[in-house]
Amino acid sequence: MLPTWYKKYREFSLNLVIDFLEDYFGKNTLNKPLQEIKEVTIYACQNWKKLRPILALEIYLLNTNKTIEEIKKEDDIVKFMIALELVHSYSLVHDDLPAMDNDTLRRWNPTVWSKYSEYIAILVGDLLNSLAFEVLSEIKNPEISQKLIKLLSRNVGFYWMLGGQVEDMYYEINNSDITKKDLDSLHNKKTWALIKSAIIWWAILAWSSDEEIRKLEKFWTNLWLTFQIKDDLLDVEWSSKETGKSVWWENKWYVYFLWLDKTKQELDRLTKENLNLIKDYNSEKLNWLVDFIKNRKK
Ligand code: IPE
Ligand code: IPE
Ligand code: MG
Ligand code: MG
Repeated sequence: MLPTWYKKYREFSLNLVIDFLEDYFGKNTLNKPLQEIKEVTIYACQNWKKLRPILALEIYLLNTNKTIEEIKKEDDIVKFMIALELVHSYSLVHDDLPAMDNDTLRRWNPTVWSKYSEYIAILVGDLLNSLAFEVLSEIKNPEISQKLIKLLSRNVGFYWMLGGQVEDMYYEINNSDITKKDLDSLHNKKTWALIKSAIIWWAILAWSSDEEIRKLEKFWTNLWLTFQIKDDLLDVEWSSKETGKSVWWENKWYVYFLWLDKTKQELDRLTKENLNLIKDYNSEKLNWLVDFIKNRKK
């Protein structure tokens, strides 16, 4: 059962993104092709876990001693939460394309390209990506705005998310070549990039010490490894009916290298280590999120 606070945070995150998009597209009547792009952009951001904005939010609330009720639409955290989710949605829309994973199911619904068309999926992905940076440019303090733009653009570009997707596609096509080291590298880049941004953003703005940042680094590294190992396990142990997306067996997964029992042991080990790393926060919510990443069924 999902706790009430998580459902509330998830709805809050979803509404922020949808309200932002509604404002962006405005109330004026659009011509038919542009109206379709508006609809699809909103469709691409539909609900599910919203883990990245929720993590960024919880880190913010813990550091400021604020409650979610005190958050205002114009706050920097809101802009950052929206940007994270827009970039994430862009990455999924493009990831599902026939030229990439060729997936037809996402969050229990048809993927954008399969419901609409490939050209629409490409353009909507492009729009979501550029909108993320437009939101961050709206942050009033130019120094904060510049830092967050730099953080996010670096983490979704060549060195991280995009680079990871390139490696993922390469081994998809040439998968007899893959070693455990290659697998670590591609997951490190494609999946950790955004969560790293969600966890580290506050420390960067707060000029935290190198030591504090290193501790967070270990946390995000473990956390996203846990997330990815679990993602592979879902593919092996669950059906599309449960996960809401396609599942299949491949040799570019942790289960292939570690087998089932060892993979599960690794998940338990990483989760314990993570709970220990964040114990100073003394946050039930953060602890729950760490457990959720391990126990989730979707
Ligand atoms: C899925 O991310 C894509 C990966 C990075 C493996 P999520 O599992 O967070 O997707 P949603 O947003 O909840 O659908
Ligand atoms: C998606 O990875 C990662 C990004 C979009 C950056 P996957 O292709 O492994 O994830 P799913 O299974 O489609 O969600
Ligand atoms: Mg993929
Ligand atoms: Mg995919």
